Amino acid sequence: MAKRKIVVAYSGGLDTSVMVKWLKDKYDADIVTATGFLGQVKEIEGVKEKALKTGAVKAIVLDLREEFLTNYVWKALKASALYEGAYPMACAIGRPLLAKMLVDVAIEEGVDSVAHGCTGKGNDQVRFEVGVQSLAPRLDVIAPLRTWEFKSREEEMEYARKHNIPVKATKENPYSIDENLWGIAVECGVLEDPTVSPPDDAYQITVDPKNSPDTPALITIGFEKGIPICLNEIELSAVELVSQLRDLGAAYGVGRLDLIENRVVGIKSREIYEAPAAVILHTAHSELERLILDKETFRYKQNVSNKIANLIYDGLWYSPLFKSLCAFVDATQENITGEVKLELYKGTIKTLSRSSVYSLYNKNLATYTVEDTFDHKSSDGFIKIYGLPYKTIALVKNPAKEEVTV
Ligand code: ARG
Repeated sequence: MAKRKIVVAYSGGLDTSVMVKWLKDKYDADIVTATGFLGQVKEIEGVKEKALKTGAVKAIVLDLREEFLTNYVWKALKASALYEGAYPMACAIGRPLLAKMLVDVAIEEGVDSVAHGCTGKGNDQVRFEVGVQSLAPRLDVIAPLRTWEFKSREEEMEYARKHNIPVKATKENPYSIDENLWGIAVECGVLEDPTVSPPDDAYQITVDPKNSPDTPALITIGFEKGIPICLNEIELSAVELVSQLRDLGAAYGVGRLDLIENRVVGIKSREIYEAPAAVILHTAHSELERLILDKETFRYKQNVSNKIANLIYDGLWYSPLFKSLCAFVDATQENITGEVKLELYKGTIKTLSRSSVYSLYNKNLATYTVEDTFDHKSSDGFIKIYGLPYKTIALVKNPAKEEVTV
């Protein structure tokens, strides 16, 4: 009988490194590792060699940055999807793409099992597995961290040492970090106490706003149909644009978030995020929508944004509802073309100007000068009819002649 083969979602960190050897022994299987490069700076170097040294028969590393931004991040940006009103969801957007990568590699390698290194209490196990189920329902998913014998990182390190698995010799980072181009998530260590404010070393890429430059940075972002395409009048690829904004924002202390959030499994957790590019682009994109979308679409889209954010966070990227709501969002983005000028300064973002050929802002209607063309008298009839239900309620509640307030 042919030897079993398993495709492992491999990051190069301790968990997935230990996992390669552990799966190989436990299932007497050949291990193929698949690593998706989504812009993580820290762990990608030497990841292929590391996987092979750890015992994989084949190590695949795929640069998925452009696909990540254009097919995944842009959808979330156009939707203004911020989980619980704040988290731009770098990690949550990356998982469905990594699930797709696992499925693609599994098909290519002709295997029937894939494995991931997510713990049994997080969101990522849900995103990986629901993603795989939605794309390849017959694939078996193995989640060793939910069942294996190791109860701590020390025990994993011990196992790694015993089996000559290369792990970083540097002083152990007390945090659990997940990183891609759109943002970084940092948890564990002292951050587990929500009464403690994050120490300086919790931040991986952003400068403390107090130590950021004393003069502001001015940037102009150009959008076409809801997608950012230009930075300071220069057309850039998605990867270039987001990388430049990440580096600039980080230098100005922009994009730090310290959030308590509700996980899919019901646990409240505390996480630090650094997402300079995401926060800058969401700010600019929303500004443009304020200028261009009509009132009803703008208001309706706010509800859709919230729903889309929940679907992404909850691992339902490949669900029919997500697809349908994205079609709605795309229709709203038809005219979201224009420019937004921003000022970055000591961790803040200020909008300086916005412009679009599709702007619905009409100065003659808005002005309080003699240029005003708005028909003030028509408001009289409008308000009488508009307020009629409430006037009727008040009259029924209060039939006596004297006026009573409240
Ligand atoms: N809380 C974030 C999410 O669910 C990030 C999860 C991973 N965080 C980490 N520090 N490894 O999307």
